Amino acid sequence: MNTRLVAARTLVRVLDGGQSLTAALEHALPALENPQDKAFVQAVCYGVCRYYHRLQFILMQLVDKPIKDAEIYALALVGLYQLAFMRVKTHAAVSETVLATRKKSWAKPLINAVLRRYLREQENLESQANSSPVALHSHPKWLISRVENDWGNEKAAQIFQANNQFPPMMLRINRLQTIRENYLQQLAALEIEAEAVENCPAAIRLVKPVAVTALPNFESGAVSVQDTSAQFAAGLLELKAGQRILDLCAAPAGKTAHILESQPNLECVAVDIDATRMQRVETNLKRLNLSATLIVGDATQPESWWNGKLFDRILVDAPCSALGVIRRHPDIKILRRAEDLVALPALQYAILNAAWSMLAEGGLLVYATCSILKAENEDQIAHFLTENANAQEISFDSNPAKHGWQILTSDQNGDGFYYARLYKLA
Ligand SMILES: C[S@@+](CC[C@H](N)C(=O)[O-])C[C@H]1O[C@@H](n2cnc3c(N)ncnc32)[C@H](O)[C@@H]1O
Repeated sequence: MNTRLVAARTLVRVLDGGQSLTAALEHALPALENPQDKAFVQAVCYGVCRYYHRLQFILMQLVDKPIKDAEIYALALVGLYQLAFMRVKTHAAVSETVLATRKKSWAKPLINAVLRRYLREQENLESQANSSPVALHSHPKWLISRVENDWGNEKAAQIFQANNQFPPMMLRINRLQTIRENYLQQLAALEIEAEAVENCPAAIRLVKPVAVTALPNFESGAVSVQDTSAQFAAGLLELKAGQRILDLCAAPAGKTAHILESQPNLECVAVDIDATRMQRVETNLKRLNLSATLIVGDATQPESWWNGKLFDRILVDAPCSALGVIRRHPDIKILRRAEDLVALPALQYAILNAAWSMLAEGGLLVYATCSILKAENEDQIAHFLTENANAQEISFDSNPAKHGWQILTSDQNGDGFYYARLYKLA
């Protein structure tokens, strides 16, 4: 199977089918036997999504009219990505991509001409691309406006640049099973280069990503994959033995697991609306040898699943635009539409309100999103504080948000994330 064609077909599922890149790759990769082919297809697909808006701009300069055939259009992007960003031999990139047109013989001269003209005019085309903000940042126009509006042009440019980087693979060691120094030694013994992350006690950054199966004792639960920004949630909850914890919007349980690893003597209830995602919660907790009460339920309607017993701690990890995790999921830039964001703040606010009604006096609620938009984050908390006199914000020392703690993708080595802590007054 021509790997360029596999990559193009995978991309068609994203570009035309609206499927996530993760799902599209899960569909495509099992058919490839050779691990190098799998790695190549994955690298090309991630790369095309990461630089889609730039490649699309360049392609438009190279054709007289838009390419209507979805597979050939994707193949042109695959070809351009290889030439512009990958260290593959130019000759092989062109000839293999042309060959991938297969029975569509009309497309052979087209792909050949596009790629050869790109090579001839590369410098000029790249500098033209740099004069268009969409191509320069490789983000859609609406998203550029939203981020610039919230953070100003200079900070926004840093965010876009950070969004286009390859994300580091981050681990969270299970402190019930191991300590970080020991795990680092185990990694070193396997020649997996890694380092401890400062200010994040369970976090390890791998210099190069590896398959989870290559990680020592992964199957027995010594370690999980989790970005450092997501690892702050458990610490912010100020957990103590014997507390009742509600993890609202819990699937697939990255944070539930961290909560239980930090303080195993808790009564932990994890709720998510999505039954399929809830199955992943079960699998993940089982691997880590942890347990919680799992409920498939709508966080906005606790009356349908809650027994009325108040909680000491609540984590609301709200459904969000996920604009803070673009570097890990570059397909977000293609799939997310401005209109998708219209209903989200109201849903987040309804979940926050419902959660508040289940929190005991003297209890603590942590609101979290992996978004960098104020409408999903600090605006929500500002509004909530004006409407709830019994809510007191516990502020953070230094951060750019008026309320809560906004981690921007460009600030640290972690994903874009937001946290706010609300204490319930008696
Ligand atoms: C950001 S993800 C949660 C990630 C998770 N806390 C973790 O750390 O692994 C948001 C979750 O909210 C869930 N969700 C969306 N709307 C919901 C609702 N109305 N009630 C409960 N869960 C909801 C989604 O199914 C999704 O699993």
